[in-house]
Amino acid sequence: MKTMLHDLDFYILSDSKWIEFIICQIISNSIKYRINKPTIEFYSEEINNKICLYIKDNGIGIPKEDISRVFEKGFAGVNGRIKSTSTGIGLYLCKKLCNKLEVDIDISSEFEKCTTVKLTFIKDI
Ligand SMILES: Nc1ncnc2c1ncn2[C@@H]1O[C@H](COP(=O)(O)OP(=O)(O)OP(=O)(O)O)[C@@H](O)[C@H]1O
Ligand SMILES: [Mg+2]
Repeated sequence: MKTMLHDLDFYILSDSKWIEFIICQIISNSIKYRINKPTIEFYSEEINNKICLYIKDNGIGIPKEDISRVFEKGFAGVNGRIKSTSTGIGLYLCKKLCNKLEVDIDISSEFEKCTTVKLTFIKDI
């Protein structure tokens, strides 16, 4: 898996243990739903005094009809039917934790092209 890191020179205020759990879930999805020559890109930007971290893969992508449901408990959608290891719990837990941590989590995707998870954090000064 090719990894690209850029524009990550920001400090955020959060709980490192739980953020590690969340990022691991996102990375494990990028690995699980990869295609040939898989890549994962990490980058961030500051918007309105908040720090947005983007984790983008070039995997199989999520069909339009599934995207609004991926944070539901047990929802694995079309891709879940391809992979036997899909339980649809990872992103549900991420969403729950993000609510508690006051982190925004969003996902966008282009089917058969890419998936990007965006985490928006409180900036550390
Ligand atoms: N990077 C990704 N590329 C393609 N599809 C994805 C990606 N991330 C999530 N999905 C879709 O969203 C669904 C929900 O993801 P989630 O992480 O909750 O479950 P899972 O990976 O199937 O199982 P697990 O409970 O082991 O995490 C997946 O089943 C898949 O359909
Ligand atoms: Mg998962």
